[in-house]
Order: sequence, then C-alpha cells, then structure tokens
Amino acid sequence: MSLQLSKTEIREAAAFIAKKTSLRPRAGLVLGSGLSPLAAEVAQPTIIPYHDVPHFVPSTVEGHPGDLVIGTLQDVPVIIMRGRPHYYEGYTMQQVTFPIRVMWSLGVQYLIVTNAAGGLNPSFHAGDLMLITDHIGLANMVGLNPLHGPNDDEIGPRFPDMSQAYDPKLRALALQTATDLGIELRQGVYIMLSGPSFETPADLRFLRMIGADAVGMSTVPEVTVAHHAGIRVLGISGISNAAQLEPGAAELSHEEVLEAGKALVAKLVPLIKEILRRLARTTPGEPSEHRA
Ligand code: HPA
Repeated sequence: MSLQLSKTEIREAAAFIAKKTSLRPRAGLVLGSGLSPLAAEVAQPTIIPYHDVPHFVPSTVEGHPGDLVIGTLQDVPVIIMRGRPHYYEGYTMQQVTFPIRVMWSLGVQYLIVTNAAGGLNPSFHAGDLMLITDHIGLANMVGLNPLHGPNDDEIGPRFPDMSQAYDPKLRALALQTATDLGIELRQGVYIMLSGPSFETPADLRFLRMIGADAVGMSTVPEVTVAHHAGIRVLGISGISNAAQLEPGAAELSHEEVLEAGKALVAKLVPLIKEILRRLARTTPGEPSEHRA
C-alpha cells in the first residue's frame, strides 16, 4: 500500500475548494495553537470545515478550530488553515501534510507557517516571536519523513535539497518589516518532537545541546512538503513558555500555551499583515498558475 495520498486525491480536494470560491490563493498560512484570531482579519471569507473537504482529517485539539478560511488579507488572496492536524493525534505524516499538497495544487506560491513553541534559548521569554532560520527534523531523521514512500516527480524531486528550506528573501523581508513596525523578532532553529507529552528536563537539555532554540510538535512536516513542492516558506514561532531545563520547575500545561497565544497574536497579526502587504508590492500580482 502506498503511504502517499495520490494526485487524484489532491485534485479532488483542490477541486472541492475551488468550487466554493472564485479566489485563487497566492499565499497559504498555517495558524498554530492559540494563533487563529489572525483569520478574523480576512476580508469576505469563505470558511470550509476540514471535515467537509475530501481526504482532509479534522483537528482534534483545543485551540485548533479546524477549518480553511479563504479570502483576501491586505489584498493578497490567501488560504488559511485555522488549526492543523498533528502526528500525535494519530494521523500519518502524509495526512498531516495533505493540506499543503492541496495548497500547491491550488497554485499557492508562499507559505507562512506559525506555531506555539517552548523557548530553549535561555535569552527567549514567553511572548517572544522567533523567525525560524532552520529546523532540526528529529522525526524526519527517525523515519517519519512525510516524503517517505513513492515520489511524484511532478510535485518535486525525490531527494529535495533542504539547505534553504526557510526562504532567505522572505526571512529578510520579515526582519525588515519587524524592525519598521518596532516589533522584536528573535531568530533561531526550531526542533520538532512528535509529542504529545511535553519534554523531560533531560530531553530539553539534549535538544539545547544539539542546537535548537525552540521546541514544538508541528511545522517540520509541513515545511518539508511545501519546500519539496517549490513553495517558498516563512516560519514564525510564538514562544509560549520558557522550557524548564532543570528538574523541579513549574509544570507546563496546554492551557498555558493557549493563554500565551493571546499576547503573541497582538504582535503576530500586524507583522504578518505587513509582510503580506509588502509581498504583494514587491512581486507582480500575476494570477497564480493552476497546478494539478
Ligand atoms: N514543548 C513542546 N511543544 C510546545 C511547547 C513546549 O514547551 N510549548 C508549546 N508547544
């Protein structure tokens, strides 16, 4: 049995979405835990619950509503995932990343991924924003790469280069935008663990030792699949808590992560809106090519 959902399934989902709206999204956004309020800024939204879309799996986690919002943000046609499915919910990596393939099929050229993450870098605090410069694909390394299985050469290469998975031009744009808006944007390496248990202090010391600045349970699969398909990726982590590298510190809960999301949203919303506005200005607004 093939692990990959085929182009037939990708096309079915894309056709279903394309029938609901005449808008052809140019940018995709994935909103992580507690970060969904950004979608409220979308003009004339078409909202499609994941459970209506063929082959999509629902998000089962609090703080992850589980629908697509399609509309315009700063005049850019966007498709927003309000909440995402995770591997820890029992889904395969192929199911987790299927919506990204559907975005590719719809012609999406840019992907902005967000997440809530624990800060490993000792200079990070809850409420900081971190531009993802690179990731450590721990799950990818142990056989949970979403590209595992047959490759579709029409989507991307068998052995995709990952040296610039987080687009350098988009990173520069994000940094400049943050400076201009007076929003502090830290930079660092994101590491994904499969979850759902949070890390032990010894886990966290190990993650810090191998070079990670922030830890979470998402993003790496989506970025792997998007980059494979030639979509340019920008990633931003909202630091929801400082990881406790020593035993005996305060316990961490999902509620704390969601609560921190509220403060993060206040910075993330203006930052992403302005990034999109500048993106629309710097590249010609040609209609996106329809792919598959
Ligand atoms: N660890 C893993 N995932 C997370 C964390 C964390 O500390 N905070 C938010 N998501």
